Amino acid sequence: MISFAIVGHLARTDGGFSINDLPGSGGRMDVLCRCVNTSLFLSHDLRRDVDCYLILCGPPAGPKTVKFSGELVRSLSPDERSAAALIKKVIDTPCGTEFREAAQGVFIRKGGLERLLSERRFAVLDEKGADVRACADLPDGFILSDHLNFTAQEEDLLHNCPRYSVGPRCLHADHTITVLHNELDRRKC
Ligand SMILES: C[S@@+](CC[C@H](N)C(=O)[O-])C[C@H]1O[C@@H](n2cnc3c(N)ncnc32)[C@H](O)[C@@H]1O
Repeated sequence: MISFAIVGHLARTDGGFSINDLPGSGGRMDVLCRCVNTSLFLSHDLRRDVDCYLILCGPPAGPKTVKFSGELVRSLSPDERSAAALIKKVIDTPCGTEFREAAQGVFIRKGGLERLLSERRFAVLDEKGADVRACADLPDGFILSDHLNFTAQEEDLLHNCPRYSVGPRCLHADHTITVLHNELDRRKC
């Protein structure tokens, strides 16, 4: 099982965003939706051994975490609006600090990065990290930032995590996931 977690620093934490304006009203929800798609989609199939966590830190009620399960999700098509519609559907579901399934294969809970890191180990994807091509073994959980840098507080939480790079250039988060999937696929197949 491979997990990706993406921190959405400005991402809206209620349904008060428009599917037609994900970058603006959603607080760059478009970035997170593209990450869901690259985490979970193959051509005409889903990666059923992948989970994608979106850590929403924006207004008005952050942080919340949405989890897409590649094994369980239904009604997801490979376009940003489809992932956004599912997020909009689950985001106002009353929830506590445990995951609640609010649409098929899509879960929501209160809490963010600190909670997730207390549950399992993650590595940080970072262009200055160890080159994945030179690593004999790779972990099974990876954290990325959205279009912004991790905050100082997040960096504190992440300071013990190993860091891996998919190459020397700074890529978009969704592109980074694609390159990493390619590396993992080549090792498996
Ligand atoms: C667009 S970048 C983040 C913004 C960037 N730090 C900045 O200067 O504003 C999105 C995320 O993708 C990941 N990333 C980008 N390039 C990478 C690379 N070459 N190797 C590993 N991770 C990378 C990192 O997690 C990064 O936080």
